[in-house]
Amino acid sequence: MDMRPLALTLCALVWAGPVGAEEMRLNVPGAELVKARCTLCHEAGHFVRLRQDRAAWEDTVELMIRRGAPIEPQEKPIILDYLVRHYGPVGAGR
Ligand code: HEC
Repeated sequence: MDMRPLALTLCALVWAGPVGAEEMRLNVPGAELVKARCTLCHEAGHFVRLRQDRAAWEDTVELMIRRGAPIEPQEKPIILDYLVRHYGPVGAGR
C-alpha cells in the first residue's frame, strides 16, 4: 500500500497548525477583542509584523477607525495594551 498521500495530508495538517498560531498572539488579555476588531477587513498578518510604540499604534488604530473599524472608545485602551505589549518596540515576540 502506498502511504504517500496519507503522509502528504499529515504534513499539510501539521503545517497548518503553527502557521495559524503565528498569526497573532492568542490566549492573553485583549487577544479576543483584537482578533474580533482587527481581522474583519484584513488578516492579523497586517499588524503582527509591526513593532511600534504606543503613540504609533494609537495612530494605526485611529486610522483603522477612520477606515471604518467598529471600535468603541472604551475598547481602544484594551486594544492598545495588547498591541504594545506584544508588538511594541521592546515587547517584540512576547
Ligand atoms: C474597516 C476595515 C478595517 C478594520 C476593522 C481594520 N483595518 Fe487595518 N486596514 C484596513 C485597510 C483598508 C487597510 C489598507 C489596505 C490594506 O493594506 O489591506 C488596512 C491596513 C492596515 C495596516 C497596514 C498599514 C496601513 O496603514 O496600510 C495595519 C498595520 C492595520 N491595518 C492594522 C489594523 C489594526 C491594528 C486593526 C484593529 C484595531 C485594524 N487594522 C482593523 C481596514 C481595516
